[in-house]
Order: sequence, then structure tokens, then C-alpha cells
Amino acid sequence: MEARKNILSAIQPTGDIHLGNYFGAVKNWVQLQADYNCAFGVVNYHSMTVPYKSAQLQERTWRMAFLLMACGIEAESIFLQSLIPEHTELSWILACNCSYGELQRMTQFKDKTDQLKETDKEAFISAGLYLYPVLQAADILMYHADYVPVGKDQEQHLELSRNIAQRFNHLFGKPYFKHPEPLFTELPKVLSTADPSRKMSKSLGEKHYISLLAEDARVQKQIRSAVTDTGESASNEMSAGVKNLFELLKACGNMDAHEELLADYQKGELKYVALKDAVSTAIINEITPIRERFNEINSQKKIYKQMLQESSATIRKRAQQTLYEVKEICGLPKLKLK
Ligand code: TRP
Repeated sequence: MEARKNILSAIQPTGDIHLGNYFGAVKNWVQLQADYNCAFGVVNYHSMTVPYKSAQLQERTWRMAFLLMACGIEAESIFLQSLIPEHTELSWILACNCSYGELQRMTQFKDKTDQLKETDKEAFISAGLYLYPVLQAADILMYHADYVPVGKDQEQHLELSRNIAQRFNHLFGKPYFKHPEPLFTELPKVLSTADPSRKMSKSLGEKHYISLLAEDARVQKQIRSAVTDTGESASNEMSAGVKNLFELLKACGNMDAHEELLADYQKGELKYVALKDAVSTAIINEITPIRERFNEINSQKKIYKQMLQESSATIRKRAQQTLYEVKEICGLPKLKLK
């Protein structure tokens, strides 16, 4: 049997997972575990690239790892980035194999810089923000990832990782790093229910996202007030808001209700209340077990923190092996591996 392919992906500890992250990423990760050798990082070093509060980062890092476990990611595949110092070490070595100009072309750097300056003209733009994509390349190349399941917004970062790998291999005359490919699965794109012209996102504000930990009443309220018709489009095409509700129903796997309600829509007989009721019921069914698992984990923090320390330590062994080999290739003295 051929060895399993490696998958690596990561998420920043934002403190919350919403339906957009869940259906658009994490749920897919859970399914990939069956067929691939997976590692999933909670990348807290990436979260330090913009201004943040230390107590909050600490709490959110654990919380994100707990949330991943509650969603069904195995503890053994989760690591906390800051517990594996090799990430920053490899990041330096890769930075020396990446050109200044290449980083200047990163659109996410430009976007984030603009965003920061929008709120504060004299905003502090850290060198870390500039080097962000190199640290990401280190996350990916460290574990010899064959595939990286990410959204389209990460395409440029992934291309940079491939370029760095290629340059490194060429420079040292050895095909050491793999060329990681993005894994774009057709996944639901969940929009804000309050403004279906935008992606569901935490940064837009409370009414724009539904948390995985939302209580039933909150889900019902948010779906009930979801925008259906904005009244702008004169065409008889389905509005973005209604499409989003159908998309959510499908994402929850409620195909029977989806089919029935879509038939009603096509006959011009759909009552939005019926659609909304079906959607909130489907969401509640999907997220209730996750919330229950999360509460269970969160009530035994000590045990689960210990588990994550151990999984990070085990995954770190792979990172140490990589650094050992990389140092050999780059002409750096190495410490003996234990
Ligand atoms: N930049 C990614 C994001 O914002 C997060 C990330 C960091 C990542 N390192 C990674 C994603 C490695 C995939 C692989 O979503």
C-alpha cells in the first residue's frame, strides 16, 4: 500500500469558529482525517503580527484548540504553533531564501496594512506582518505537506511556499522540500445573514456571524432576521440572501427539506418563514452536539491542555527531524536528535 499523503492546514486563534469557518474549512478537515496523514495548527505566532492583548491571545489559543476537538479533529493531529519553536527557526532560514520584492507583492499584506491605517493613520505595521507568509511557508514545508486545504484567499501564500521550496531545492541542488498543492474542495461559501453581499466574518460585527457555540434562541433570532430580498434586483433570479439560506440547508446535509423548499420556490409558493424555520432547525441539529462536546472539554481544561501539550510535543519530533536535515543542507552545525 502506498504511504498516506500529508495534509497540513492551520487556523488563527480568533476565539471563535463561526458557520463560515466550519462549513468552509473545519468540517472538511474532519473528513480528510480518514484518508490522509493530517496535522492542524493553531497558529498563534501569526496572530501576533497585528496589535493584540496577551491575556486574550492566551485564552483564545486554547479555546481554538478545544473548538477543533469539539468539531471532531483528533487531538493527536492538533498542535499549538508556539509550542514548536522549529517553526520560527525554519521561518528564518526560508526568509533568507525569499526575496524582498516577492513579499512586497503579497496582496494580504497590502490589504491588512490598509485596514490598520484605516482605523489609525499612524498604525504600527510590524515586520512580523511583512514576514507572515514566510512563517506560513514554514508551517507547510516543515511537515512535507502534499496538500494544503485552504480557501482561494490563501492561493497567493501557497504559491509563495512553492516558490520558496523550489528556490531552496535549486540553490542547494537537492529536491528536499515537496511542492505543496492547494486542495480546493467545493465547499459552501456562507454569507453574512445580515448582509448577504459579504462573506460571513467575525470582523464585520456580531450580527454578521453565527457562532458554532450559539444557543438555540440566538440561532433562531439571527435566521429569522436574515435578509431575504433587498429589493434592488429587478431580475427574477434568486436573491443572494435566499440563496445563502438554501446553501446553509445543504451544508447541514438536510437535502430532503432543501429539495422540497426549492420546489416551492420554483412554483412561486415558498414562504420565507418556512425556509427560515427549516434552516434554523438544521443548524441547531448540526451545532448542538459540537457545543455539548465543547462544554465538556472546557469544563476539564486541565486534562485537555495536557493532551494538547503532548500532541504538540509528538508533532514537534517531526519538526526537529526536518530542521536537522535542513541544517545539514544549509551548512549549519546541528544538535544531535534525542
Ligand atoms: N494564513 C492562514 C489564514 O489566514 C492561516 C495559516 C497560517 C495557514 N499558516 C498556515 C493556513 C498554513 C494553511 C497552512 O487562513
